Amino acid sequence: MRQNIVAGNWKLNTTLQEGVKLATELNEILASKTINCGVVVGVPSTHITEVVKAVDAGKIGVAAQNCADQESGAYTGEISAAMVKSTGAGHVILGHSERREYYGETNATLKVKTDLALANGLTPIFCIGEVLEEREAEKQNEVVKSQIEEALFHLSADEFAKIVIAYEPVWAIGTGKVASPEQAQEIHAYIRSVIADKYSAEVADNTSILYGGSCKPGNAKELFANPDVDGGLIGGASLKAEDFYGIIAAF
Ligand code: 13P
Repeated sequence: MRQNIVAGNWKLNTTLQEGVKLATELNEILASKTINCGVVVGVPSTHITEVVKAVDAGKIGVAAQNCADQESGAYTGEISAAMVKSTGAGHVILGHSERREYYGETNATLKVKTDLALANGLTPIFCIGEVLEEREAEKQNEVVKSQIEEALFHLSADEFAKIVIAYEPVWAIGTGKVASPEQAQEIHAYIRSVIADKYSAEVADNTSILYGGSCKPGNAKELFANPDVDGGLIGGASLKAEDFYGIIAAF
């Protein structure tokens, strides 16, 4: 059965010291609680080693927010999947809309990154989602289908089983405009059906599909109550330990 997961994406926020403080606070809150979902924090790559040391690995996993599309070599400024793995991270967020929009990442690049992440034992949290104009033109299903098809459907069923999907409608990211529980359920069920058609009902059933975009303690419960919403990928609200815990506690 698939796992419910609440993952944070800190994006380009926190110095190392602030990040360790935030991770330590979250760790302290979770230490005394019963948690009913997997918890992951997606931190800047400079922070991973220290955040891994600051948290209980049994309760909190650590993710990078990106990895290179090359194994190694003359690629100044890049961080490879092997390097990410060597820091102690277990996950890597791939294909976030901000990386697609500001850094020109395409489905073709993401295909390579996904392969490298899997080859290095990392679990990709693979982001998909439509922009506002696509939603207004009712093209959201087409968009997410092609994102999955082009970047992920070359994988074997065994490889695909290691992927976590995060559906993040771009119009909901950082805007305070959250998808309604009905909108989230509808497209999550569609995404699951696309996976079932390609692989099998069993693979689709076992795939965790997270929702991201203005998810907060106040709306997490109604989003996560949907049968095909298996948790969230949280931006702004993951930067305060209490708020992030409020979302984790929705399970
Ligand atoms: P917000 O939760 O800030 O809307 O960001 C969502 C997101 O982009 C997570 O990856």
